[in-house]
Amino acid sequence: MDFTDHLTATARRIETALIQLLDGPLCAGTPERLLAAMRHAMLGGGKRLRPFLALESASLFGIAESRAMAPALAIELIHGYSLAHDDLPAMDNDLLRRGQPTVWAHFDEWTAILAGDGLQALAFEVLAADDGDLDPRVSLQLVAGLARASGADGMVGGQALDLEAEKLGQPEVSSADHIRSLQAMKTGALIGFACQTGAFLSQASENERAALRQYGDQLGYAFQIADDLLDAEGDAKIVGKAVAKDEAAGKATLVSLMGIEAARRELSAAVEQAQKALQPFGESARHLIAAADYVASRDR
Ligand code: IPE
Ligand code: IPE
Ligand code: MG
Ligand code: MG
Ligand code: MG
Repeated sequence: MDFTDHLTATARRIETALIQLLDGPLCAGTPERLLAAMRHAMLGGGKRLRPFLALESASLFGIAESRAMAPALAIELIHGYSLAHDDLPAMDNDLLRRGQPTVWAHFDEWTAILAGDGLQALAFEVLAADDGDLDPRVSLQLVAGLARASGADGMVGGQALDLEAEKLGQPEVSSADHIRSLQAMKTGALIGFACQTGAFLSQASENERAALRQYGDQLGYAFQIADDLLDAEGDAKIVGKAVAKDEAAGKATLVSLMGIEAARRELSAAVEQAQKALQPFGESARHLIAAADYVASRDR
């Protein structure tokens, strides 16, 4: 099976698990319209790359998909919440996501805010409500790790720097180092956490953890450069969201700072570094190696 078939098949199982979750007992008391907005944010599209990475990193350590699915879903719920908020008028003001109206455009702003809030809390509930097989210390580490990756020192902090650059036009944002650290927080932290899921679940050695951390950091960096390149030169019909917005909006991206060619070189270097980090895992890391190539070459 080639990589994209493998990703598509895995994404389908992730989507099924998300449908079950949103139809299931944890959401039984959720008001109908709010639940519809949460479903809108989570279902019907999306590459499912973060949960895929979580499942793949678990399989590196021989951990069954059924055991890794809860953290994988928790990560995707955080991602879905972050996008519902990212698209709001107060943030990126976007109307289209995955070829569909964004949550706020389909419902309204307050519903999109609350749907994001609900998804965020649900992520931690899913992590904490794991099947009982899991050592409670590992569960706690996962909860703390996801909070760190998604919170003010991670994704939320990166979103703040992204919007400070755009809305407040702060001069230091023009440096490549500032953009790199902004992207590491905004996108790298959650992708990096996903890549370490298997190491958490199997209580892997520090060396194995460090290798996955290094892979995740480089992959997350590559992922955001690819996203920024898609904004600069992608086809909106394929990407499924508005393109050609970042530069005009004054977003701090490497593409705006260095131009397309230099950003592409930076992307290739990050992919190479990511793949190199997996060397200790040998052949068993082949899907993660292919995932790095996919991140660089994706068209959506
Ligand atoms: C978009 O993420 C937001 C970024 C961090 C760049 P994805 O490109 O993973 O979005 P979906 O889930 O596949 O739609
Ligand atoms: C969003 O980055 C990153 C998040 C943490 C949500 P972008 O704003 O570039 O993502 P898109 O292009 O809207 O998907
Ligand atoms: Mg944004
Ligand atoms: Mg956006
Ligand atoms: Mg973007």
